[in-house]
Amino acid sequence: AGYEMIATETQGRVAVVRLNRPKALNALCDQLMGELGQALRGFDEDSNVAAIVITGSEKAFAAGADIKEMQGRTYPAVYLDDFIGKRWEAVTQVQKPVIAAVAGYALGGGCELAMMCDIIIAGDNARFGQPEINLGIIPGAGGTQRLTRAVGKSKAMDMVLTGRMMDAQEAERANLVSRVVPAGEVVAEAVKMGEAIAALSAPAVATAKEAVNRAFETTLAEGVKFERRVFHALFATEDQKEGMSAFAEKRKPAFRNR
Ligand code: HXC
Repeated sequence: AGYEMIATETQGRVAVVRLNRPKALNALCDQLMGELGQALRGFDEDSNVAAIVITGSEKAFAAGADIKEMQGRTYPAVYLDDFIGKRWEAVTQVQKPVIAAVAGYALGGGCELAMMCDIIIAGDNARFGQPEINLGIIPGAGGTQRLTRAVGKSKAMDMVLTGRMMDAQEAERANLVSRVVPAGEVVAEAVKMGEAIAALSAPAVATAKEAVNRAFETTLAEGVKFERRVFHALFATEDQKEGMSAFAEKRKPAFRNR
């Protein structure tokens, strides 16, 4: 819908948002992030869409926030603009599953964008890093927090203090990504995963996402209590009756998202 820096399409019930600013290796300037937020909000509201894939090119998922755009900014300007809050938090507010299909560079804000997604699938050429320290700054879109929760303190410090990159194999060993596939297949793999999720009960899927995310925000006891409450709530859905009847009758469930 008139986007300049992203391209969107749907494949069945999976929406694919491609970051498309090749001249700058998909550097995440304000315009690109504004377009991404708008696309994500639109797909989240579209009942024909069950899952969303965010991807870049085979060379770069995204090489970071746009350094040339940030270069001249002052403290009052970034503070009053709430850089990066307004434009970036749209990614974390999506209710549907968001899968990052990462080939090539995912650096700085690019790595942070991937980590805002629910699942990261990496191409075997993927390179993750938080190189902000080389610019005299630090990650500002959640990198120090989400990377630490994903890979633990020692490796997060290693990445954030030295600015080095990690390859796809290291990222898989460190649990930053859920799986590694050949670079050319990363989008197809993510769409396949999205299609599998699309066949399930949408209320159960959204609840599952919310419950896993709760693990990052609360204590174990509170998280387990939250899980039990929303687990109970799913017994109010027709899909729970359908899913369990189908199992008992040895047939495939036909979920109707209610
Ligand atoms: C603006 C960028 C850019 C970026 C690349 N480009 N990354 N422009 N912001 N983050 C531009 C280059 O200037 C160049 O433009 C073109 O993309 C191609 O990049 P090259 O450097 O020529 O490519 P290559 O030699 O292949 O090197 C790839 C690279 C390198 C290793 C990824 O581009 C790189 O180090 N980029 C910066 C990575 C980085 O520091 N990211 C963190 C940004 S800070 P021209 O016009 O010269 O052809 C950040 C803060 C987040 O993300 C905080 C919250 C948002």
